[in-house]
Amino acid sequence: MSDHLIPRPVRDSQSEMAEIVLPNDANPLGALLGGRLMHWIDLAGAMAAHRHARNHVVTASVDHIDFLVPVRVGDLVILRSSVNRVFHTSMEVGVKVYVENYIADTAQHVASAHLTFVAIDAVGKRVPVPPVIPETEDQRQRYDDAGRRREIRRSELERRRKPR
Ligand SMILES: CC(C)(COP(=O)(O)OP(=O)(O)OC[C@H]1O[C@@H](n2cnc3c(N)ncnc32)[C@H](O)[C@@H]1OP(=O)(O)O)[C@@H](O)C(=O)NCCC(=O)NCCS
Repeated sequence: MSDHLIPRPVRDSQSEMAEIVLPNDANPLGALLGGRLMHWIDLAGAMAAHRHARNHVVTASVDHIDFLVPVRVGDLVILRSSVNRVFHTSMEVGVKVYVENYIADTAQHVASAHLTFVAIDAVGKRVPVPPVIPETEDQRQRYDDAGRRREIRRSELERRRKPR
């Protein structure tokens, strides 16, 4: 096995990103724009994917995202990401978003997302990704769930590609 394909534990990909919501991130009522949060989710997901694959990656898909609570200017947004499962050239990354209010000392779950990244080389050719090793009960659960989600994505892709 080449060095590049040596399996790595989930913890090697675990990443955290923090953003303070500024007026430019918000609508006129001071609430964080959904599109800005999606951009941050993509970046946080890419961090985990890069750390695991140690290669270039592109975002192939983002599963649906629910925005559970509003986030306001001045809030601190924390995004945590890690690789859930590797397939062949693609991997599923989970991103969980929290909002922290450092004055009230509270933290709330804002959104969760599952993204699929595909690893590519410097000329854009797809390359295999090393397997990921889940070590905790939570990680094993996410690994199993990711397999089920992949089946749903594949059948959905197939359905959309069928000529009408
Ligand atoms: C993602 C991309 C590389 C897939 O290329 P493709 O020729 O369709 O590749 P294939 O159908 O052979 O699939 C390659 C892998 O990607 C996965 N994949 C492809 N489309 C996918 C999708 N919509 N969702 C999840 N996974 C997907 C396949 O399951 C496969 O995974 P595996 O190797 O682990 O089994 C290609 O569509 C692409 O370059 N898209 C643009 C990516 C980009 O620019 N993103 C930034 C946002 S604009």
